[in-house]
Amino acid sequence: MQLQMSVQREDSSMDGCTDAVARAWSAEEFGAAAGEWQRLLTEHLREVMAGRTKVLNWSDPQQSAQAAAAWLEHPLAAGPDGVAGGMRQLLQQMLSAGQNLHHPHYIGHQVPASSPLAGLLDGAAAITNQVMAVYEMGPWATAVEQALVSRLCGLTGWDPSTSSGILTHGGSLANLTALLTARNVVLPQSWRDGVPAGTTMVANADVHYCITRAAGILGLGAAAVQKVPLDARRRMDVQRLDDVLIELRRGNRPVIAVSACAGATPTGAIDDLSAVADVCRRHEVWMHVDAAHGGSLLFSRRYRDRLKGIAAADSVVWDAHKMLFVPALCTAVLYRRREVRFETFQQDAPYLFDPSAPGMADIDVGMRTVECTKRATGFGLWGLWALFGAELFEQLVDRMLQLTMRFRELLNSEADFEALHEPECNILAFRHLPAEVRLLSLAEQNRFQRELRTQLIREGSFYIVQTTLDGMAALRATVINPLTTEQDLRDLLTAVRQCGQRVWNL
Ligand SMILES: Cc1ncc(COP(=O)(O)O)c(C=O)c1O
Repeated sequence: MQLQMSVQREDSSMDGCTDAVARAWSAEEFGAAAGEWQRLLTEHLREVMAGRTKVLNWSDPQQSAQAAAAWLEHPLAAGPDGVAGGMRQLLQQMLSAGQNLHHPHYIGHQVPASSPLAGLLDGAAAITNQVMAVYEMGPWATAVEQALVSRLCGLTGWDPSTSSGILTHGGSLANLTALLTARNVVLPQSWRDGVPAGTTMVANADVHYCITRAAGILGLGAAAVQKVPLDARRRMDVQRLDDVLIELRRGNRPVIAVSACAGATPTGAIDDLSAVADVCRRHEVWMHVDAAHGGSLLFSRRYRDRLKGIAAADSVVWDAHKMLFVPALCTAVLYRRREVRFETFQQDAPYLFDPSAPGMADIDVGMRTVECTKRATGFGLWGLWALFGAELFEQLVDRMLQLTMRFRELLNSEADFEALHEPECNILAFRHLPAEVRLLSLAEQNRFQRELRTQLIREGSFYIVQTTLDGMAALRATVINPLTTEQDLRDLLTAVRQCGQRVWNL
């Protein structure tokens, strides 16, 4: 017999609540506010995507903070415009003062012009407050996470039934989590007793700072990270890796992992993962691949070979909020061997994890994540995948890489520009060197690059970032917006030239 699911409530009135509480929880008020939200966001996207706005709305940070605080003085919903009108004002403020990643001239950080449709699903998860730690709090969110982890393990080259993983909040937390697992597997006493003196980690010299930060957090000390010099393509020099590991063994120093890059932050360089794997296997050390940026190349039949060898890794980190174009944050931590999945933490939390249902430990993700309450981060990726198929990600990766290679050709065809490397991903570092700047010292050339970038982004016509390679300051572009075209890249060169002129004349 079917049980009555719940007692029907007479109406949705909230007896005894204040007006503010009742309105903040009213489905009708929500609907009206959502109508404003939809109208304004659609219009905003239309304008931004057509390039009719600035890219970055730069304003003085302190003035912005004061302006934001001023909104907290008088409750808008109590005013004449009510909740929906208040929502309209708040959104207008937000949208007019932000970074417009969907502008075709946003060619900056590795954070993408995400698919707005993916954002709709994330929004629905936020509105219904689907969270994780235990299955019961987000049953469908957990199912979605399991499905995604399984597919990403498959793309990495592993059998999903013998591998494992989780989703978490970003590449930094993901790298920390994977390296913590490595530490606990390599040094099983370290959770309780801390790490022995002399414990190290070995890493590509261009690793993201979150890797050295992880060493600090994990008790090794950031200075314990042994950086392996790079080869001419800014990949970890595998011979030097071998030398470093031999030296560490001679010194009896435990190595928790070798951290390789698949898409290093400064240039997108991808380590020769097969060669790194051979060295790691020979020395019996944990191989970790930070594929936060480059993991997505595995979707592309044309480019996946660049990550050949990744299947030998013990752990892999892969950001979907980079080249899979979903809103931040959505990152996978993946383990080749399923049996290591509970090594990350040794936590007793009887109020959460029911010892009478041990089977749930594999489903309740909280046993394996830093977070207890964890936002459901997978809906955007799951939704885009379900709507358009995995081909969408392949098409995006191919488009970004091809356009980046075209950008390099454009730079090389101009006498006053210099591409600093062959792009292996969608990242390209370059310099603007008009004849008069070429005559300057390196320090002055560096200042010129930095000042011209500041000018460029503050005026709002383009957004690019900067990096420093072996002491040389460079402009850095990440092609990570499907709306960016070759013509936009040509226009970028013109805008850089104009800014360069202004900086020179200052
Ligand atoms: C290679 C690499 N790893 C890790 C990170 C950190 O990722 P997140 O910003 O998601 O914490 C980045 C960020 O750009 C990165 O480029």
